[in-house]
Amino acid sequence: MAKIVDIINKAETTHSLTKEEIVDLLRCDEYDQQLFLAADRVRSQYVGDQVHLRGLIEFSNICQQNCFYCGLRKENTKVKRYKLTPDTIIDLADKAKSYNYKTVVLQSGESQSYTVADMQYIIRSIKALGLAITLSLGEKSREEYQIYKEAGADRYLLRIETTNSRIYKELHPGMSFENRLRCLQDLKDLGYELGTGCLVGLPNQTMECLADDILFFKSLDADMIGLGPFIPNADTPLAQERGGTFNTSIKVMAITRLLLPDANIPATTAMETLNKNGRIIALQSGANVVMPNVTEGEYRKMYMLYPGKICVNDTPKHCVGCITGKIQGIGRHISTEFGFRQSKKLTNNLQEYAEKERNM
Ligand code: SAM
Ligand code: SF4
Ligand code: FES
Repeated sequence: MAKIVDIINKAETTHSLTKEEIVDLLRCDEYDQQLFLAADRVRSQYVGDQVHLRGLIEFSNICQQNCFYCGLRKENTKVKRYKLTPDTIIDLADKAKSYNYKTVVLQSGESQSYTVADMQYIIRSIKALGLAITLSLGEKSREEYQIYKEAGADRYLLRIETTNSRIYKELHPGMSFENRLRCLQDLKDLGYELGTGCLVGLPNQTMECLADDILFFKSLDADMIGLGPFIPNADTPLAQERGGTFNTSIKVMAITRLLLPDANIPATTAMETLNKNGRIIALQSGANVVMPNVTEGEYRKMYMLYPGKICVNDTPKHCVGCITGKIQGIGRHISTEFGFRQSKKLTNNLQEYAEKERNM
């Protein structure tokens, strides 16, 4: 076994590791601080000290899927379902703009409860406000993805959740791993900035599985990678599971930063659910994005993926002040840019990027 410090050095200088090296890193906790410091240096070198804030609008908790881990799953009858009207969603985006967020993330359960025309209207109206738009609506047809891209959506988040096809199958009744891959490929082909990611600590998931997940993000050359611990929800079939740990989640994230140095990587809400300083620790271990919630009132509580979700009793205004203070407290700055992926800015897409920043 190569020395752990040598593996960390190799990752920091070459941005490439073998599966075995990643597994060694994940298994050994003795050099975690060195790993986090290396990820922090790479983050600083490639994406700078700015933190991009993306305002998260959880616009509906209606879902037709039954993912075993998720509180929004169709068979969870304890959830009171809601769907915001298109104009309410646009209004929330306008409020996000007033907090100086440059991007809104429109997230929901997977469903047909909004028509394609509704979504086009929402996307076009938000675009007209001068905001960048990230969608996170689950699996759709290529045609539907294309329509939303043409309406003005810039980015799409669709986690692979796990690259182990057997575990994927066990946890996603009625869904297929092949279709998940098809969606990711379609989104990439259509020119979206592509976000994916995984859950850490799923039942039967090993360190080898997590190493495969990280290598998958690299082979896909994902623009954004959002990952966090799986947190068991009492109203799901995985109620009795142990769930993921904060430390392993941060390690997977730090290694991801070392291997994809210029990707956008959020400090996720689930990390802060397990550790009250979780997002700041994540920002100091490779992350450069935070997604504060801009959903208002009772809906925050109703979008309950897992217990203990942060900020459910807070207002969007309170959250912007809270997270800004925390970020500035560690000497980082809030970005005033749209925060597209750096390599798209620096290399082959220079013109497209410049145009995007100009046209917003
Ligand atoms: N329905 C869309 C989808 O599945 O892509 C978007 C919304 S879904 C609630 C967003 C993410 O929540 C999922 O990708 C999943 O990783 C995460 N999630 C769901 N249940 C969770 C749990 N119990 N613990 C941690 N994260 C969870
Ligand atoms: Fe629905 Fe997404 Fe939750 Fe799966 S993870 S049940 S698709 S909201
Ligand atoms: Fe919501 Fe701190 S970000 S209370």
